[in-house]
Amino acid sequence: MKVLHIDASALGAHSVSRNLTAAIVAEFVRTHPNAEVTYRDVHAAPLPHWAMPAADAGTTVGDEVMDEFLAADVVVIGAPMYNFSITSSLKAWIDRIAVAGKTFRYTSAGPEGLAVGKKVIIASTRGGIYSAGSPAAGMDFQEPYLRAVFGFLGVTDLEFVRAEGLALGDEHKTKSIDSAVAGIGGLANAA
Ligand SMILES: Cc1cc2nc3c(=O)[nH]c(=O)nc-3n(C[C@H](O)[C@H](O)[C@H](O)COP(=O)(O)O)c2cc1C
Repeated sequence: MKVLHIDASALGAHSVSRNLTAAIVAEFVRTHPNAEVTYRDVHAAPLPHWAMPAADAGTTVGDEVMDEFLAADVVVIGAPMYNFSITSSLKAWIDRIAVAGKTFRYTSAGPEGLAVGKKVIIASTRGGIYSAGSPAAGMDFQEPYLRAVFGFLGVTDLEFVRAEGLALGDEHKTKSIDSAVAGIGGLANAA
């Protein structure tokens, strides 16, 4: 089993999503001792913004990123909410993996996702509360966006491990992280 681990938080050791992705990957390694993990930190090593192939000439980073994604059976992504969406560092990664002819194609019947058979797990973190039914639910352009992108690429097995309300006080933060961590065990067992 190949596991691709992506982190995007700028908060280093204080990051909740980094702790959650590490715990998710550790759970996969514990339950699948043959797991091979590839790690990419798109904050520490930002990807160049997508450019015309000629402007990108001489770099292989786009190919590497695509190869890592295509090879992975399980993709674990830390996705903090920044200004109601994902970090620009993670968006630059998505711009490298959403490529016509590789991970999707257009047919006469419409678009078709080609990245089938993967499990994608997203550790979603946010300072406020945006879950369904909350007053700010309509301002969530993070989880619905990720659902749309991975659905478009053909991923049907998509799970969110969510810790939200992280800016609402220590008690709320602890409860939210504990409940996110509690959901991790079942994820790896089901893979
Ligand atoms: C630049 C920036 C923008 C943010 N924008 C939002 C936001 O729009 N909504 C929100 O609820 N939290 C926002 N936050 C709070 C983060 O989502 C929160 O700190 C979360 O824990 C970040 O994930 P991390 O702990 O893995 O870094 C923002 C944080 C930063 C640094």
